[in-house]
Amino acid sequence: MIRSLLLIAVLVLVPVTGFAGGGETVPPPHHHWHFSGVNGTYDKAALQRGYKVYREVCASCHSMKQLSFRNLTDLGYDDSQVKAIAGEYSVVDGPNEEGKMFERPARPSDAFPSPFENDKAAAYANGGALPPDLSLIIKARHHGPDYIHAILTGYKDAPHDAHLLEGQYWNKYMPGHVIAMAPPLSDGQVAYEDGSPDTLDQYASDVVEFLTWAGDPYMETRKRTGMKAIIFLLVFAGVMYGVKRKIWSDVH
Ligand code: HEC
Repeated sequence: MIRSLLLIAVLVLVPVTGFAGGGETVPPPHHHWHFSGVNGTYDKAALQRGYKVYREVCASCHSMKQLSFRNLTDLGYDDSQVKAIAGEYSVVDGPNEEGKMFERPARPSDAFPSPFENDKAAAYANGGALPPDLSLIIKARHHGPDYIHAILTGYKDAPHDAHLLEGQYWNKYMPGHVIAMAPPLSDGQVAYEDGSPDTLDQYASDVVEFLTWAGDPYMETRKRTGMKAIIFLLVFAGVMYGVKRKIWSDVH
């Protein structure tokens, strides 16, 4: 009896207090995303804006090791544009015939260069907190798109009973509310060229669209194939029903 009461208490209290998960969690507000639903597609203009936000802001701390410049053709850039974008970066190559490593402009086949040489250097530069690689971050978090939009827009003044250390910030949606990333975005920070609003909310939505594409670049093909398979199965089921009626039509 006591044991089952204890079990019930644990089952009820753990999700409520979240003590097993390292602090309180607030569910992120739900957004309607261009890519959600069975017919959802990526909005190429939003992808390009999101890439601009990543490139100008997030890339100074976060790597995206799974992406290569040539993947940017998915965003609607043509080969010469991708070549020009890659050429703005330099990467380390080599060794040359003297055995030395050297820098050269990036090519479309190169992976996105990382901001730090290794994880230790990345954590050291960020007060001990490692900025995670963003290639698959949308998949790595529950309700990824909503959650990351919420994190980027969820910084608030810390309540007075909160204990923040140097380099920590209060965020409504971070589990436990303490995050070691300074608010990366604010209104007017990135200059959009297509007339979209230069607001924190718009930046957050666009960078989420970009990160979702990065983690799931074949989503559109997958959804189209799924649709075709369902239509095929429906037609096939109809045909088989007709066949069945025909075959059994003499049996009364
Ligand atoms: C100045 C460096 C810096 C910049 C710029 C920055 N971040 Fe971060 N970010 C961090 C650090 C450090 C962490 C780890 C925080 C922690 O563990 O508390 C982090 C964590 C995150 C997380 C993980 C949160 C979680 O649930 O664990 C996401 C998502 C994220 N950043 C997205 C972004 C995006 C998107 C941008 C650009 C708009 C950005 N960051 C810009 C340093 C940065």
